[in-house]
Amino acid sequence: MRDLDRLAAPGTPEREILDRLAPESLPRHIAIIMDGNGRWARQRGLPRVEGHRAGIRAVRESVEAAARLELEALTLYAFSTENWKRPRWEVRTLMALLKEYLAKELRTMVENNVRFRPIGRLGELETEIQDGLQRAVEATSSNTGLVFQIALNYSGRTELVDLMRAAALAGRDRSLLPDRIDEAWVAEHLVTAGLPDPDLLIRTSGELRISNFLLWQIAYAELHFTSVLWPDFTTRDLLLAVADYARRERRYGGVVEPGQDAADEATE
Ligand code: FPP
Repeated sequence: MRDLDRLAAPGTPEREILDRLAPESLPRHIAIIMDGNGRWARQRGLPRVEGHRAGIRAVRESVEAAARLELEALTLYAFSTENWKRPRWEVRTLMALLKEYLAKELRTMVENNVRFRPIGRLGELETEIQDGLQRAVEATSSNTGLVFQIALNYSGRTELVDLMRAAALAGRDRSLLPDRIDEAWVAEHLVTAGLPDPDLLIRTSGELRISNFLLWQIAYAELHFTSVLWPDFTTRDLLLAVADYARRERRYGGVVEPGQDAADEATE
């Protein structure tokens, strides 16, 4: 039973959006490219890192909203393999914010029955962060609700490179034969193994790019771009994106209704 009252009180604009959504039209998995922290800070004459700090509220709110909507998964792009190119101070602040987030938010994740799952080349992060991530994974491992994936030192291309390397290694000792590699095998060996592919990909800040995020998994995702800067992103914006998604017609390369062909033939 979805906890609609905790997500949006009756009579609020958020609740109106929610009440118009049929439960079966909700996405199972939402992925978000959180963008615009720097611009949010610049607009206020603040250093860029203040935008990242403000972005934490939007992270917290999105995770809670996704949990209450009873989505299966939410994947947030927090730090890409390319983000190391940013000034050292900014990278250090992002890592410090991540540590702070893990320390502060663990309880909320447990309370919301959220399973925490970091994805990306985690072995390249500093040991203290790896330990904090591991602790959060363990503390939430028996939860049964939303899987909250946070992408850190992640890019879609490195994910695919890692997969190809693993396959080549397994091929060398013949524990993996070429015939066994099909789309299902690939899906089972990606960082998102066990989860449905994202149905909806949201990018904030008005940029119209995928930026190397979940390249395999978003093959059929519906895309939603909003000009809202990430620190301003609220439950209402998430619900608007979901309502936009619910109006889309997903065909996966096929026809609208599987029965339509037969009906057309019968009338020919
Ligand atoms: C993009 O904004 C955002 C990021 C590179 C980092 C996202 C990080 C957070 C939301 C905060 C940290 C989150 C956790 C959970 C620790 P940008 O800096 O590229 O913005 P711009 O395009 O306006 O410059």
